[in-house]
Amino acid sequence: MERRIITGGKLTEDAKNDNILRPQSLDDYVGQSAVKENLKIYIQAAKQRGESLDHTLFFGPPGLGKTTLAGIIANEMGVHVKITSGPAIAKTGEMAAILTGLSDGDILFIDEIHRLNRQVEEMLYPAMEDFAVDVVIGNAGPQAKSIRLDLPHFTLIGATTRAGLLSAPLRDRFGVISHLEFYQPTELQEIIQKSATKLGVTIDAEGAYELARRSRGTPRLANRLLKRVRDFAEVNYDGHITKAVAAESLDRLDVDSMGLDNNDRKMLLMIMDSFGGGPVGLDTLAASLGEDAGTIEDVYEPYLVQNGLIHRTPKGRVVTDLAYEHFHRPIPQA
Ligand SMILES: Nc1ncnc2c1ncn2[C@@H]1O[C@H](COP(=O)(O)OP(=O)(O)O)[C@@H](O)[C@H]1O
Ligand SMILES: [Mg+2]
Repeated sequence: MERRIITGGKLTEDAKNDNILRPQSLDDYVGQSAVKENLKIYIQAAKQRGESLDHTLFFGPPGLGKTTLAGIIANEMGVHVKITSGPAIAKTGEMAAILTGLSDGDILFIDEIHRLNRQVEEMLYPAMEDFAVDVVIGNAGPQAKSIRLDLPHFTLIGATTRAGLLSAPLRDRFGVISHLEFYQPTELQEIIQKSATKLGVTIDAEGAYELARRSRGTPRLANRLLKRVRDFAEVNYDGHITKAVAAESLDRLDVDSMGLDNNDRKMLLMIMDSFGGGPVGLDTLAASLGEDAGTIEDVYEPYLVQNGLIHRTPKGRVVTDLAYEHFHRPIPQA
């Protein structure tokens, strides 16, 4: 597959990390079985009809495999993929150039699609629905003329952290909307073992499991921690990653027994110590932590909520008894 990256010189983080660890086929893609099974059917059906795949939106926390899936779909369909991102397309002219440069069947992958500006987003509506764009020719003003250009039948794949960040008109134009979930420890264990093989690292099943259960349900983090633990294993031990080696290395990396990192702990402790355990509003919490509210909502919180350490209530965020137990603190009596 040819992968053209067209973010005007500025590669997205994902594109830079497009490394040997990224699975290239659906069979290689571990977990997300519901999403995968559906995609297999849509891909096969589209191929049988000789059509392009319906526009597809992937949403879910960072590092769960949205970009990877876009590449895999292109591979499975045997088509080209162009990769760009919402913030990289500043003007409608740039979007028009991207769209008119596509060929039949091509995939256009737009990462962080919720960050497209309004005019650029609106250009996508007829592009997605009618495979056409309206472009203004001549100077703006009374002389300006708008002409409609036909586009090839491409597939738009969008990725975003939360489907709710998209405007309704954009969301409604996707034929397939898939939610990626955090991975189970056994799934991450399999990913880690595959990655270890690709990196030439030896790790036993228990070592992989220890890493897996402390990777926040996130393949990107699992791979990153594997590389760091490998460093420890090579320098302090014989290079082989066992459970003990993994545990000691992760402790030194400040990844705790539940896989929480410094940011997670800081947030939980802030709610306990400064807000009496909550409820505390997102914006107040963000200001206290000196952190962006969106980052808290998209990056930190989902894992803490999923693991029962935080509850979202109408009045704000509340830490749970489990969180107090995790920090070996007495549970405050109501
Ligand atoms: N299902 C999976 N199986 C194996 N590896 C995965 C899977 N999902 C993600 N990865 C790994 O995690 C990394 C991050 O995935 P990516 O697709 O960039 O996440 P996202 O786009 O959702 O932020 C990839 O480079 C890949 O190595
Ligand atoms: Mg991505």
